[in-house]
Amino acid sequence: MPTFKALRVHQSPLGPTASLESISLAPLSAGSVRVRVAYSGLNYKDALAITGRGAIMRGYPRVAGIDLSGVVEASEDPAFQPGDRVLATGAGLGEWLDGGLAEYANLPADALVPLPSGLTLREAMALGTAGFTAALALRRLLENHQVPAQGPIAVTGASGGVGSIVLVLLKQAGFHTAAITGKPEAAPQLGELGADEVLDRAQLDLGSKPLEKAVWGGAVDNLGGEVLTYLTRTVKPWGNIACIGLAHSAALNTTVMPLILRGVSLLGIHSVQVPRDWRLALWQQLAGPWRPQRIEERIVRDIIDLEQVPQAARELIAGQARGRYVVRLAGEI
Ligand SMILES: NC(=O)c1ccc[n+]([C@@H]2O[C@H](COP(=O)([O-])OP(=O)(O)OC[C@H]3O[C@@H](n4cnc5c(N)ncnc54)[C@H](OP(=O)(O)O)[C@@H]3O)[C@@H](O)[C@H]2O)c1
Repeated sequence: MPTFKALRVHQSPLGPTASLESISLAPLSAGSVRVRVAYSGLNYKDALAITGRGAIMRGYPRVAGIDLSGVVEASEDPAFQPGDRVLATGAGLGEWLDGGLAEYANLPADALVPLPSGLTLREAMALGTAGFTAALALRRLLENHQVPAQGPIAVTGASGGVGSIVLVLLKQAGFHTAAITGKPEAAPQLGELGADEVLDRAQLDLGSKPLEKAVWGGAVDNLGGEVLTYLTRTVKPWGNIACIGLAHSAALNTTVMPLILRGVSLLGIHSVQVPRDWRLALWQQLAGPWRPQRIEERIVRDIIDLEQVPQAARELIAGQARGRYVVRLAGEI
């Protein structure tokens, strides 16, 4: 039986551990599609799964990687034909389905999105879940009436994958942005992404009252915990906070005051199980009107091979992310 290379996570007495393995290609079941993977990417969630720091996977052993782009090699679903270019982000990859950090993936057809014209396979993974999530956050802000005149949008975890792309998309949409970062030395790169101002997270006065002086038109938060609490205290009336991540903490200690005295909205952002029509529409946006200019130059930190993924994952867990790692499998096909 033919085999292929994959980064697979096993459960062990020491917790989940990842290893590079050669595994057998399983036959396709009805409704499934085999993709030859061109590129994958590395997200914070992948880093949690690969380092064993987070219980991301439902069942072991499981191939890691929540994202992939590639070419259909065989299909048992009429929606896809051999040779079709596709991408997948979230949708269960690397959680309850084998994921994209592998040379091949057998996936249910509804996990796949046809690669929109306007994006290459590599650009799709420069964006990946991070780009899709950033676009979902922008969509929800706009749907809830966020406009540039309300004031600057604070973006936390700004140097990471999601934060970087959020800065680009907000700037392109006409918003004034403030990057809140643990890496003030990255100010030039954050400015290049679209940050109008850069604030050192360590220097922020987080306040303590339910309502502090309102300074932000809205916010996009990747951190959770005390920084998210600070944002709830300081967003202006009718502003929105898109709540994306927990890179700092899963906690949220706040009061109803910002909601009932300022009309602030906390918008939940969930990129895994997304209505299919939203998913298709957002990828069209990302490939079209919202396409980040100079995607690779501005967003991609490096293109790495499968062997380099565990080390890169440790960096992300240590908060050292800068932009996105793209992982090369077959490369351009
Ligand atoms: N809701 C969803 O569907 C969804 C989708 C994608 C990602 N997420 C979540 O969003 C967050 C960001 O994801 P990502 O892929 O952009 O991650 P990433 O590339 O690893 O970036 C995370 C950034 O957060 C900041 N950070 C602050 N404290 C940190 C800490 N203790 N550990 C790690 N990072 C820390 C760092 O930026 P600074 O140094 O600039 O502060 C870091 O660059 C993660 O929590 C992830 O799980 C959620």
